[in-house]
Amino acid sequence: MDFKVADLSLAAFGRKEIQLAEHEMPGLMAVRKEYAAAQPLAGAKIMGSLHMTIQTAVLIETLVALGAEVRWVSCNIFSTQDHAAAAVVVGPDGTVDDPKGVPVFAWKGETLEEYWWCTEQALNWPGGEGPNMILDDGGDATLLVHKGAEYEKAGAVPSAAEDDPEEWKIILDLLRRTVTADKKWTEIASRIKGVTEETTTGVHRLYEMFKAGTLLFPAINVNDSVTKSKFDNKYGCRHSVIDGLNRATDVLIGGKVAVVCGYGDVGKGCADALRGQGARVIVTEIDPICALQAAMDGFQVTTLEDVVEIADIFVTTTGNFNIITADHMSRMKHNAIVSNIGHFDNEIDMAGLAKIPGIVKDEVKPQVHTWTFPDGHSIIVLAEGRLMNLGCATGHPSFVMSNSFTNQVIAQIELFTKTEEYPIGVYVLPKHLDEKVARLHLDALGVKLTELTKAQADYIGVPVEGPYKPEHYRY
Ligand code: NAI
Repeated sequence: MDFKVADLSLAAFGRKEIQLAEHEMPGLMAVRKEYAAAQPLAGAKIMGSLHMTIQTAVLIETLVALGAEVRWVSCNIFSTQDHAAAAVVVGPDGTVDDPKGVPVFAWKGETLEEYWWCTEQALNWPGGEGPNMILDDGGDATLLVHKGAEYEKAGAVPSAAEDDPEEWKIILDLLRRTVTADKKWTEIASRIKGVTEETTTGVHRLYEMFKAGTLLFPAINVNDSVTKSKFDNKYGCRHSVIDGLNRATDVLIGGKVAVVCGYGDVGKGCADALRGQGARVIVTEIDPICALQAAMDGFQVTTLEDVVEIADIFVTTTGNFNIITADHMSRMKHNAIVSNIGHFDNEIDMAGLAKIPGIVKDEVKPQVHTWTFPDGHSIIVLAEGRLMNLGCATGHPSFVMSNSFTNQVIAQIELFTKTEEYPIGVYVLPKHLDEKVARLHLDALGVKLTELTKAQADYIGVPVEGPYKPEHYRY
């Protein structure tokens, strides 16, 4: 088996944590049981690009339990938990000397070159017959396949412009080496039945490609299952934003001024958590609806310019770029904490920060750096501007990820087994499946549902067994 992880000897520790996680992931375990006999993913060759954590290990082993062959990478250079990666490679029945699990190419602290090398390895199926499915988080695997196929069609890979981001130059270099006359990427794209996408930013990319007419295979937008974005993005971040801050800095949050940029699902969870710790939370927004929500939730809403000099903690949650600029950072208080929990690192202008003449970067510990300005004051940047909850801590806890990943497994089964029902486009799972995912998590929390009577169901115009809300309902 080909694989590359940090240290296989961590597998036993990883396995113990996987076993604890399984208990906290009732949705995934129920799906394993439901489909054990049917093996709906037999024949599926799934390339996954999603943070290689303990929770993801349970997802991977669920896909395998349903018949799939899997190869995996992380979708961020800092988010891999090395013991999880090792345990997945060794597998439940293997040993360190005789690994029998799934090929993983991921370790914590990859360089960007290594990151894209890993993505390519997971797409290089032995024997060349795969992958036929992608499970993506943020869209990097989908992007690589699309760009490869696009440049093969054009017959050449374009040169990077000097001011292109470093990462794009790395991608172009990789494609220059791998775009070939025998059309490797076009071949890979043609075999893929579809992609299931985990996050807001990746989904955004998919809709853009569909609009531009460049999307090469159908996609299921897992993010916008209600049981994903209204739970993982919100309650997951409510947990893991604090975990990231604590493990990175252990600074007391109570009494501090915290700025949350963006009040979407992630922003709502972060603002709530910071308030829960006793911080005075200020929100920035561009959308009047989200700004009004923040105000009604009791937060001050203003611009970053107004508060950049007085805040102690900054968290960007926008999925947009250039939210905190180098100029903002130069005006911050001494030891202000600057962090991003959105998918990509361009929410904070790290490149601009590095270019300030005389600035000095110093590592406190991995993923925690001080940047000292020529006037002597410093800021603390978490995870080099990458998502801090996965870079500095261990991301969302198992229970919430069980909701997200149960949607992922159902979406993989949908696209793989009903391919002809999904012409190229971007789809969300039907509401009855969303309700099913929620239902699978009720017992573990001791929730007792009220059952509609037939007369009540008729009165509000829904079936007794659901779905209970019209498509336009927003939760
Ligand atoms: P969303 O679209 O619900 O929220 C983003 C909000 O930011 C929107 O309300 C938007 O109006 C606002 N915004 C955009 N530009 C802004 C600007 N210049 N200033 C202030 N506000 C601005 O998206 P969601 O679901 O909250 O996701 C946000 C990001 O977090 C995405 O990149 C997503 O992929 C990522 N994500 C990260 C997770 C993690 O564990 N770190 C988990 C889930 C999502």
